[in-house]
Amino acid sequence: MYTFLRNLMFQLEPEKAHYFAMNSLQMGCRFAPIKKIIQQNCSYNHPKLEKKLWGLTFKNPVGLGAGFDKNAIYLGALDCLGFGFVEIGTVTPKPQSGNEKPRLFRLTKDKALINRMGFNNDGVVAIQERLAMWRNKTNTKHPSNLIVGANIGKNKDTPNEEASLDYCLCFNSLYDTADYFVLNVSSPNTPGLRALQEKEALREIVSKVQNANYGKTKPKPILLKIAPDLSNQAIDDIIELAEQTQLSGLVVSNTTIGRETLLHTSKAQIDAIGAGGLSGAPLYQKSNTILSYVATQTQHRLPIIGSGGIFTGEQAVEKIKMGASLIQVWTGFIYEGPGIAKNICKTILQSE
Ligand SMILES: Cc1cc2nc3c(=O)[nH]c(=O)nc-3n(C[C@H](O)[C@H](O)[C@H](O)COP(=O)(O)O)c2cc1C
Repeated sequence: MYTFLRNLMFQLEPEKAHYFAMNSLQMGCRFAPIKKIIQQNCSYNHPKLEKKLWGLTFKNPVGLGAGFDKNAIYLGALDCLGFGFVEIGTVTPKPQSGNEKPRLFRLTKDKALINRMGFNNDGVVAIQERLAMWRNKTNTKHPSNLIVGANIGKNKDTPNEEASLDYCLCFNSLYDTADYFVLNVSSPNTPGLRALQEKEALREIVSKVQNANYGKTKPKPILLKIAPDLSNQAIDDIIELAEQTQLSGLVVSNTTIGRETLLHTSKAQIDAIGAGGLSGAPLYQKSNTILSYVATQTQHRLPIIGSGGIFTGEQAVEKIKMGASLIQVWTGFIYEGPGIAKNICKTILQSE
């Protein structure tokens, strides 16, 4: 059934298909009988899937990665699809429209995507209001145990030297409404952003956000999302910093700028697409290498959210065995469809 729908969707330009599919799902979920059918077909609940981490209870360890619901519009619908958690964002202080379109490309033969979205989002004020409204609704009319993380970043026109101000502003604005935070310094599509992964630049951002966090009555978990293209030395520096600043964990990993993986898509097509982050199947091994390195170096002390190329339950289990406490899908959702969380949950349960 999904193969048929996917073939239809793939006739549309990728970004249009994304919004068309999500708006349709969201609309469907407004009608109780349709919502029930979707929930019955897509979610899979079992007490053994529950995961307690950072004082939060995840109903299952399968999340949706940042960038899918950048503006916190689709949380109700995503909850119906059985995800244990959704990471909204990347949110920046001011709204921004992102890079010129087209900026999202399918590499169908490779089960991959290339994107150079550039942090298009409605800005922290609008997103905070939307998230607060959703919280309000779930506290009254529609209870939900979906965990919502906020992935935060800096505006394109904020110089790197002032980046910590943007991260602090987003953190403070979303503090009351998000369950956990991810500092995104690893997207390839904001010029210079990845330079913030360098030791001293990162220390400035992380320590300022942690200062703000520890000034609150109940500090929230703060994680850092890293690129899969880092050297071992750079990862060692990040681990050291994460331990010194008491980060709650790492998200491993973001998309890759590398094109060294053998792709079925022709070089001419790849060149024509141009710059951007590659995600999906070709990212799986590369993100696993980094995940495994981080887990070994930290002796599994630092919780990891495993992200990169997960399509099946077996792949999720492999990441968990390597050291991930939770996992996230993104590109796999596009190719495998709305049953992905349920399928992965079933396999995780069987593997226990
Ligand atoms: C279109 C698109 C937009 C994305 N936007 C963001 C983003 O705003 N912030 C972020 O941290 N990651 C973003 N990501 C990265 C994903 O969250 C995820 O880490 C990455 O795609 C690897 O997982 P996958 O192979 O399962 O897709 C984006 C990915 C895609 C495909």
